[in-house]
Amino acid sequence: MKRNGKPGVKSVKIELPGNLTHIEDFIEVINEQSGLKLGTDIKFYSSGGNKLRDENLFLLKDNEIVYLEPYGNAFDVNNILEEFTVIEPLGKGGFGSVHKAQNKENGMLVAIKYIDITEYSISFNLILVFRASRVDEIYKETQALQKLTHPNIVKLYHTFPLKNSMVLIMEYVSGGELAAYVQTRIKDGYGLTEAETKEIFTQLVDAVSYCHNRFVIHRDLKPENLLLADLEKLTIKLIDFGIAGSNYGKSKDPTTAGSLYVSAPEALQAQRANAEPAIDIWAMGIILYFMLYGVFPFRGSTEKEVIGNILKKEVEFSEGRKRISKSCRNLILGLLKKNPKERMKMDDIYANEWFKLK
Ligand SMILES: Nc1ncnc2c1ncn2[C@@H]1O[C@H](COP(=O)(O)OP(=O)(O)O)[C@@H](O)[C@H]1O
Ligand SMILES: [Mg+2]
Repeated sequence: MKRNGKPGVKSVKIELPGNLTHIEDFIEVINEQSGLKLGTDIKFYSSGGNKLRDENLFLLKDNEIVYLEPYGNAFDVNNILEEFTVIEPLGKGGFGSVHKAQNKENGMLVAIKYIDITEYSISFNLILVFRASRVDEIYKETQALQKLTHPNIVKLYHTFPLKNSMVLIMEYVSGGELAAYVQTRIKDGYGLTEAETKEIFTQLVDAVSYCHNRFVIHRDLKPENLLLADLEKLTIKLIDFGIAGSNYGKSKDPTTAGSLYVSAPEALQAQRANAEPAIDIWAMGIILYFMLYGVFPFRGSTEKEVIGNILKKEVEFSEGRKRISKSCRNLILGLLKKNPKERMKMDDIYANEWFKLK
């Protein structure tokens, strides 16, 4: 047990009997063991910031930190950050930073991401008017992400606004970005084999289909946003969901121009990138091609040229040196149909010949 918002105050260890169902009994146990004289009007928060009540007492886990609040104050999110020691930076993009950190109590590794929300506000003139609703919008989206539980999607443990940032505390993934992994494999050949590609692509399809079924569109699928959890088994985890249109802003940022190569034609033509499932499907086609060839199908020496190629150029499989089966080529062509209406749907992928073949 710790004090809410008072990191310096000593914590107390309490042994709870297993069958507690009332806050009043909970307080009695604490008073007995700590020598404190807490009244029944005292508040407690779980480590995630939920107020403890009779109904959720049973959810407390072994060794969970409980925060004590004597003055009726709201849960202080600094409690959560206090639980971790920052180890090193993992990445820095246009919208904030990601750090590797470790839980002080149990040693568990996490990644903490700060998304700068003032950036979003500044892109509008009405900073003060917009700000509250903007934070709210971003917060709602991150809360939706917290509900996603899938073996190939990075688990989001906590999310909360803090000063000018939205903080995301998530599972740490150790194997690096798929982009980097493919690069290392290019050195000793031409990207991944079809079998390895299928291994990874299957997980990508499962994860994205899980999201689409829950009306979540990733919006920023690309080889940098797929992390390898296990390099032997080639297990991947999806990170960095486009939040509240952030993917649109990102592609304008030169430091994250990587998003351009995966942009769907319709996203380049529209004023704002629409969050349609079809833009994720297109990006999956690009990633499939990238794994096999180690390069993107639509390239160019200028941004304009890349965009021109995405809009007009047909996919080429003449990277010469490498032979790709006809069925795999057909799948890529179906995913990279310029017209989103003609593009394959998730069901078509599951029914696809190459995809189904083990
Ligand atoms: N959960 C994580 N585990 C390990 N590394 C991560 C994690 N999340 C992000 N990273 C690293 O930080 C980089 C940037 O994170 P990301 O969420 O993609 O932010 P950005 O919006 O800057 O692209 C990632 O490409 C990856 O290398
Ligand atoms: Mg990213």
